[in-house]
Amino acid sequence: MEANNYQCEGCGKQAKLRCPSCIKLELPDSYFCSQDCFKKSWVIHKIKHTVDNNNYTGNLRKGKVSAMRTVPEHIEKPDYSETGVPVSEQTARAQREIPVYSQEELDQIRYSCRLTRECLDLAHSMAKPGVTTEEIDIAVHEFCVEHNAYPSPLNYYNFPKSVCTSVNEVICHGIPDSRPLENGDICNVDVSIYYKGYHGDANETFLVGEVDDQTKNLVKTTYEALMTAIDSCKPGQKYREIGNIISNYVEPKGYSVVKSYTGHGVGRLFHCAPSVPHYKGNKTGGVMREGHVFTIEPMINMGTWRDDHWDDGWTSVTQDGKMSAQFEHSMLITETGVEVLTARLPTSPPLEFLN
Ligand code: MF3
Ligand code: CO
Repeated sequence: MEANNYQCEGCGKQAKLRCPSCIKLELPDSYFCSQDCFKKSWVIHKIKHTVDNNNYTGNLRKGKVSAMRTVPEHIEKPDYSETGVPVSEQTARAQREIPVYSQEELDQIRYSCRLTRECLDLAHSMAKPGVTTEEIDIAVHEFCVEHNAYPSPLNYYNFPKSVCTSVNEVICHGIPDSRPLENGDICNVDVSIYYKGYHGDANETFLVGEVDDQTKNLVKTTYEALMTAIDSCKPGQKYREIGNIISNYVEPKGYSVVKSYTGHGVGRLFHCAPSVPHYKGNKTGGVMREGHVFTIEPMINMGTWRDDHWDDGWTSVTQDGKMSAQFEHSMLITETGVEVLTARLPTSPPLEFLN
């Protein structure tokens, strides 16, 4: 398909012209609808050629972000794939009801979650020193296309890549770029896949090469917090209890819980009710019922729980630049408990920190 996903930096209309200086400097894509709009935007736009405006909080620096990839015509796409606007999600948000699915739909969601797991395992096998997050993005994108699926992050509110890769102090929503992973990094890969009308969503934090014990402990604790929270899930459990369980698990070990991002309903929509905060004392509503499908995805920090973000509009980082880890599963509430839809498989590469 032609590049009609792009919006003019000047006026927001559909755009196909790229700034030649940005191309030469290999900067993130800037598009314009016309020479006229380009000229009108120039005084502001040219700043992008000279300065890195980011308010970095730690040691990580952004790399170069390549052009957006496309998905073949024959693959079924979510409503935002062209416009960047998830209209169906915005409509559903108004009613705030937790969807309940038929058995047929649950089988579809199971399949999307299974693809998500297999793709996350592929990303895991790549997370080694020297590999760029862009290479992981390409592998995720190609996995989706090979399976006739759509990578849910692609163009979701204009997100420019097919997966989120969040390194070190990045809390979530990191954009894959040209930076090679380094020995001692931690890298979260958050895979979401849309197959024939249904999304799956899961993430894990991988240790890149030799990681120091302190950081390894943060990653391990985050994983244990997620699994402990999942163990409590069953019909009748209040969604607000999840935050108490997670905080009570990680805070005595000296870690903090990010408040700005929550778990969410997933299925027909990428993000819908319920909202599942991960911190104690939250006032979220709702009770788990058979047929609910949602994620839990705690982001746990070494230092402050406060978040900040880069000027790319996406990358969420810790305010003190210290490490942040995350794990996520999609799950279904059953008659008696919970079914983890993105559960690890016998073939999944083992989590290094469990040794
Ligand atoms: N996959 C994320 C989640 O777990 C959402 C990413 S939104 C994106 O909810 F636009 F950054 F992809
Ligand atoms: Co999620």
